[in-house]
Amino acid sequence: LRVVLLFGGRSSEHSISCATAGGVLSAIDRTKYTVIPVGITRDGAFTLQPDDADMFTLNPDAMPEVVDNGTRVHWPESSLSRELTVTNADGTTRSLGDADVVFPILHGPFGEDGTIQGLIELTGLPYVGNGVLASAMGMNKHFTKLALEAAGVAVAPWVKVAATQWQREPAVWRQRASSLGFPAFVKPARAGSSVGVTKVNGPDELDAAFATAFAEDSTALVEQAMTGREIECGVLSGRDGTETRVSVAGEIVVTGRDFYDFEAKYLDVSAAQLICPASLHDGELWQMQRTAARAFDAIGGAGLARVDFFFDGTEFVVNEINTLPGFTPISMFPKCWAASGMSYPELIDELIELGLE
Ligand code: DAL
Ligand code: MG
Repeated sequence: LRVVLLFGGRSSEHSISCATAGGVLSAIDRTKYTVIPVGITRDGAFTLQPDDADMFTLNPDAMPEVVDNGTRVHWPESSLSRELTVTNADGTTRSLGDADVVFPILHGPFGEDGTIQGLIELTGLPYVGNGVLASAMGMNKHFTKLALEAAGVAVAPWVKVAATQWQREPAVWRQRASSLGFPAFVKPARAGSSVGVTKVNGPDELDAAFATAFAEDSTALVEQAMTGREIECGVLSGRDGTETRVSVAGEIVVTGRDFYDFEAKYLDVSAAQLICPASLHDGELWQMQRTAARAFDAIGGAGLARVDFFFDGTEFVVNEINTLPGFTPISMFPKCWAASGMSYPELIDELIELGLE
């Protein structure tokens, strides 16, 4: 089968997506799949990249990038064709053959948010993971919370602030944000990997935090800081419409930083420990799995997700749903599935099979 691996992209998580691609390229079953690696540059150009996992390895000193090599990949013009073509740097064009499935592993806006999913829908090609609506919902923390609340899933109290509102009436919004108490988190509505997120300890820190969040998105959220353990789990759709599958629990223990920020996630990996399986009683594990499945259903999820919680010993409060969780070799999503009996190569295979259903 020919798999179009789509990675990189225009978001601030470009490098993380490249690292995910490195992981997939190194582990995908070569006896079953031929990979067409399509790297999207930070400017949005679709380029044909070498099928070389080493080029896209996660390295804190030199984060991987899609370099514009002058090639341009073209999608089928209609759903009557499955053929991809590439224009080489010298202007000649050749066929890449018929694609069987597209595997988007883009994180953040222009990839995890339904935009690419819509583009692929237009081609008629099958693809891995969440559709347009679930992707758009999962990307936007405000709308995720609304959907979860409506489904009876606990979320942290929050206030949504548009950049224009903040500019017009800072005193009003400073007061509304402060009503949640401190510490609080200020986050862009649509971003990932904690990019643009600030922990705020008092009202005087709000200005800088909003400036950071609004650099990523025109809408921000102020969220009450939750206490408790940081628990995460993986979700996979059932095969042929059977019940949603939820992995065992993983736990993030942050030691070297104020919170599980970008630095702790990818650059100073000693600052956070990923423990999997996390120690939970049977009843707690069941409660977590039930909440994760309900959250996945609430946003119309399909394929995969990672659901992140705060657990205070009583209740699982959902922090967010990631519709395209990182699966670099150090990421929680594959770790949770490995601990649940599905190896990294098996997980890739499973995701593609789900995409082909
Ligand atoms: N946004 C990052 C990639 C994650 O959820 O793992
Ligand atoms: Mg996220």
